[in-house]
Amino acid sequence: MKALLLSGGEGTRLRPFTLTTPKPMLPVANVPLISRQFELLKKHNVDEVIVSVGYKAEYFKSCVAPLAEKAGLKIHLCVENTPLGTGGGLRNAYSLFRKAPSPFFVFNGDIISDLNLEKMLEIHKNAGACATIALVKVSNPSAYGLVLTDADMKIKKFIEKPKPEEIVTDAINAGVYVFSPEIFDAIPPDRPVSLERAVFPYLLESGKKFMGYVHYGYWIDAGTVEKYKKANFDMVKGGLLTGENTVLKEGVKTVGKAIIGENCSVGRGVLLQNSVILNNSVIKDGCIVSDSVIGNEVLIGNKSEIRGAAIADKSLINSYSLITGG
Ligand code: GTP
Repeated sequence: MKALLLSGGEGTRLRPFTLTTPKPMLPVANVPLISRQFELLKKHNVDEVIVSVGYKAEYFKSCVAPLAEKAGLKIHLCVENTPLGTGGGLRNAYSLFRKAPSPFFVFNGDIISDLNLEKMLEIHKNAGACATIALVKVSNPSAYGLVLTDADMKIKKFIEKPKPEEIVTDAINAGVYVFSPEIFDAIPPDRPVSLERAVFPYLLESGKKFMGYVHYGYWIDAGTVEKYKKANFDMVKGGLLTGENTVLKEGVKTVGKAIIGENCSVGRGVLLQNSVILNNSVIKDGCIVSDSVIGNEVLIGNKSEIRGAAIADKSLINSYSLITGG
């Protein structure tokens, strides 16, 4: 079975980190986000994955294949020269699905979940659906697109960015889909198309069988700095995770969660609180880093305080600096 991972977006809400590393390649608790998706796919009998890329395609070309192979998946990269959007990205991979037409999964590139993909596929097949969307229930749905279903879980309506009086459900689009091959008939080729704004409304209008599948387990969209931090923290049981060759000097203290990548050095007496530090960074003695994400190859001088901040790759921060987020 095949799956397509939509990985071509710029990930603007996760800047500055996505300025250097495309979102699916960012580590989440020291494992690339995309590898977490590969693991889920493999667990649910997917054996071939198509990664649809555009932004920073070269980055994917240089390192995604070994990650897929490690997970036991056959991989194809499908490269867009100009951004085609979520629907256009899928349509661009049509030739890879044409030969063996059967239902397949599509994932947004920032979703980490423990979705039961086999169950979702079974519901899709039993309903004879053209498309099935995974839904999750959230406590504050106002920032998301709501999905209304009837008693048989047929999708009835989408409400984007609802006004307070329009919040009649807590079910939102989880960014994971099963499509039957007929989906390709609903997407015009060679132009930007949005699944959410064009293809899904078209499926409803044209009376195609369109189902929702509610997932009650773990789910996160790691697409903002806050959610990226939360995803990192959710993936570790204890308080501290350190990557290979990372050195913590005497008196380092952690409060809450601290996730540190490879080849880092954390100086004497540093306090790390609910923060993520990517690879190859140095934090000198006596610093306080709280509620922050520190990028790759950052150098923070002695006795600096970094609070609620997102520090870009290769930043040099002088000793005694105070950096606070907005
Ligand atoms: P933001 O800029 O922060 O909104 O992030 P994003 O670029 O990832 O956009 P969004 O989260 O809305 O995209 C949902 C998924 O579709 C992500 O996994 C993107 O990588 C992917 N995506 C967005 N635009 C494109 C595109 O033009 N082509 C492809 N292949 N994928 C896309």
